[in-house]
Amino acid sequence: MTKPRVVSGMRPTGQLHLGHLVGALKNWAALQERYDCFYFVADWHALTSEYASTGAITGYALDNVADWIAAGVDPERSTIFVQSLVPEHAELYLLLSMVVPVPWLERVPTYKEQQEQLTEKDLSTLGFLGYPLLQTADVAIYDGRFVPVGEDQVPHLELSREVVRRFNQFYGDVLVEAQPLLTPVPRLPGLDNRKMSKSYGNTIDLADDADAVLKKVKQMYTDPKRIRADIPGTVEGNPVFVYHDAFNPDTAEVDDLKTRYRAGTVGDVEVKTKLARAMNAMLEPMRERRREVMAKPDRLREMAIEGSRKARTIAHATMERVRDGVRLRY
Ligand code: TRP
Repeated sequence: MTKPRVVSGMRPTGQLHLGHLVGALKNWAALQERYDCFYFVADWHALTSEYASTGAITGYALDNVADWIAAGVDPERSTIFVQSLVPEHAELYLLLSMVVPVPWLERVPTYKEQQEQLTEKDLSTLGFLGYPLLQTADVAIYDGRFVPVGEDQVPHLELSREVVRRFNQFYGDVLVEAQPLLTPVPRLPGLDNRKMSKSYGNTIDLADDADAVLKKVKQMYTDPKRIRADIPGTVEGNPVFVYHDAFNPDTAEVDDLKTRYRAGTVGDVEVKTKLARAMNAMLEPMRERRREVMAKPDRLREMAIEGSRKARTIAHATMERVRDGVRLRY
């Protein structure tokens, strides 16, 4: 029996952090049991916003893949590849662009939101408008059934399904529709309780060492009303306790800290020191694995190139079918 296929990608625009681990990578690793997983570096997607300064992209690409492997993505079981090494993605994107009405793309919520937020970048490009269409091609080219993503990506997948349906109306049953597989965990807050994001400077990176983690945890936002350790504090929504719940396997310790926090009988220092200890215990085996992988960059690069070759075989077969559908056969 063949496993249903899962496709997902990540933009190589920086070091990966705990938000990526909790929001995507743990899930990517778990899905390998039941699905035929295709995970890729979305380097063309990185260009949609980083086109003016592209020098760091390939470095981040390999660095990110090392983190994927450290988090449990297994190159023996999953196909790990690089988008730009499979140019068929671009060919399918071009054909999709012939049938997608521009207003469909303008209506995608992230389009206007990102343009408003990233004011230092000129995002009035065709490439940026086409972002979710490229994403549609990324998945459709592998007949992907499921796409593990966070809540924010759901509108992209809705657009994808509409585009696939329209394409198939013209050209027959050529492409398959994909469903989102929502990541089960709620979003991890950053150190300042906003969304964890490199642009806010509030991340804990997978590459951070134990000292850096301790230092960052000590700076973490807690209950702002609790100006002294003997004042009862709020646990709910307090990022320090959100983290304890996410990363500290010692539930007895966590329950004790919560009780004493609510009663005003524990200091932030103890809560945070215990948190940093638990987080470092969880992160250390990943750091170890990351170091091993990064010690052999040629092997890592070869693995990504080999994965891309394998992905390309499938992408090629899909494009044969698509060209038949569109009746561009000579
Ligand atoms: N847009 C996705 C993100 O920002 C990245 C991505 C690109 C992607 N192509 C994809 C995710 C295809 C899933 C499937 O997270």
